[in-house]
Amino acid sequence: MAAPLGDWTRTHTCGELRTGDLGASATLLGWVHRVRDLGGVVFIDIRDRAGISQVVVRDDEALLGEAKRLRPEFVVGVRGLVERRSPETVNSKLATGEVEVLAAEIRLLNEARTPPFQIAEDASVSEDVRLRYRYLDLRRPRLQANIGLRHRVAFAVRRFFDEHGFWEIETPILTKSTPEGARDYLVPSRVHPGEFYALPQSPQIFKQILMIAGTDRYFQITRCFRDEDLRADRQPEFTQVDVEVSFASEEVIYAVIEPLMQRVFREIGRDVSLPFRRMPYAEALAKYGSDKPDLRCGLEIVDLSGIFKDSEFRVFKQIVAEGGVIRGFAVPGANRYTGSQVKALVDQAKQIGFSGLIWVRPGEPPVSSVKALDEGTLRGALAGSGASADDLLLMAGGPGEHISRLLGQLRLVIAKREQLLNPDQFSFLWVTDFPLLEWNGDEQRWFSMHHPFTSPADADVELLEREPGAVRAKAYDLVLNGSELGGGSIRIHDAQLQARLFRRLGISDEEARARFGFFLEALEYGTPPHGGIALGLDRMVALLAGESSIREVMAFPKTANAVDLMSGAPSAVDAKQLRELHLRAHK
Ligand code: AMO
Repeated sequence: MAAPLGDWTRTHTCGELRTGDLGASATLLGWVHRVRDLGGVVFIDIRDRAGISQVVVRDDEALLGEAKRLRPEFVVGVRGLVERRSPETVNSKLATGEVEVLAAEIRLLNEARTPPFQIAEDASVSEDVRLRYRYLDLRRPRLQANIGLRHRVAFAVRRFFDEHGFWEIETPILTKSTPEGARDYLVPSRVHPGEFYALPQSPQIFKQILMIAGTDRYFQITRCFRDEDLRADRQPEFTQVDVEVSFASEEVIYAVIEPLMQRVFREIGRDVSLPFRRMPYAEALAKYGSDKPDLRCGLEIVDLSGIFKDSEFRVFKQIVAEGGVIRGFAVPGANRYTGSQVKALVDQAKQIGFSGLIWVRPGEPPVSSVKALDEGTLRGALAGSGASADDLLLMAGGPGEHISRLLGQLRLVIAKREQLLNPDQFSFLWVTDFPLLEWNGDEQRWFSMHHPFTSPADADVELLEREPGAVRAKAYDLVLNGSELGGGSIRIHDAQLQARLFRRLGISDEEARARFGFFLEALEYGTPPHGGIALGLDRMVALLAGESSIREVMAFPKTANAVDLMSGAPSAVDAKQLRELHLRAHK
């Protein structure tokens, strides 16, 4: 039975009442969170977006009867006077915990089926069920807080850019393919048989064209679409805070984004200190085995190749002789690990992909997993790694980048286990000086590490044909606690150089014309030097909310295989629709 709302209007939200409201008449409208039936007295917790208020029903038999029929998630209106709770029912965990509303009237606005999981309990529910009934999941206080935070962040971002002279401009969703390295989502055209729009992987080309158009400073909070393998921090459609600035050097972009971050973090009451640290890509890889290092823990990787170059330990000696490296790091305090704990660590390292992990315990004399290592070499390795007497040194040998990346993964496993990653610390970092190109052995050609519009460093342009792997890019990533929050670059603004880069990427002039002709042409009409960045809004809010998955900060996310469990998308369409689109479906 659903009653109309009639002339009832809300006087207070469910999170609002305090002792200052004692004696006031209140009308609350919301969902039944919990009902406690004590016979002669019934307590009803009513919930809305703002919080929870306690309603008490007593003395009135008819009203008690109505209250006893209420079930969780029924929609109700309650009218009554605000009174002080009796001392034994005061709830210090609730903002409204000192008061209650003595019900004079209850209006049952709607009933609800029994929910598949309880909204009131933070019980673990499978994510599939949560996504199937997302509207119920979203009623839970944690998600409400996340979605509210997301709104506030987006709003703060808009205010910031407006204050700094940026215009928010919408770019098309039905467009042409933009090369960001993922597959496109395609939309067939009904009026142009056999032709397709692509959904934008990012507004990259359009924002550059806006610079050519004289927009000067652009931003957009915009949806991007990428058909790629999904993970906790990736969704097929996600939101970017997209930015482009004319006449910008890297410094100009940093000077916009750093105070933006400061403003955004104020939304959770955190002070971010500026400027952010910077680190060249090569250093990040060598020291932390990652292009997005988490700097909250030390565990810095050191190169010990020099120590093993002339050692008696033939395996390592040979690796170094063949151009490989010996690298490792000291785990603080891990000399206390028992033998079986160390063995478990080595087993874990094998799962990550190490063919072998060697450990050294400092001591008199030092002890190692490899008997063939003499005392002098062990002491040299310990000293080289900076290990103290309480630490445990871990080492491995092989090709440089491979070993660093493995150690980088192991570093994070250990950091998590040893609780070295303080969730309350926010460690920002600009990673700079990326290589412009990377070699793809499978396809036997060079690929852009960022995207093909990224400018090479001025001094490296001449290396484009001669030594492509050595060309540095004017590209930068913003990293926060080991997560890539954003990436951008200074762009190529010279049409000739852009064409040269496409050729370097193995894209023929003909293909470049077909895919990006409009853009190459636009570049020839007076393009200012420009650059920009895009930040992942979902990742940013997830970090702010302390969530490990971006799904927790998106209202309607998709599953790991890109399904919307609530609406059932993607789904088959009828034959008539397919015919109109000039398509035939194959299963
Ligand atoms: P890039 O591809 O690095 O750069 O993307 C920028 C940021 O967007 C976020 N992001 C994602 N978030 C959720 N799910 C995804 N599938 C996903 N893919 C990317 C990340 C990432 O750092 N046009 C360039 C930007 C530029 O050069 O200005 C671009 O899109 O946080």
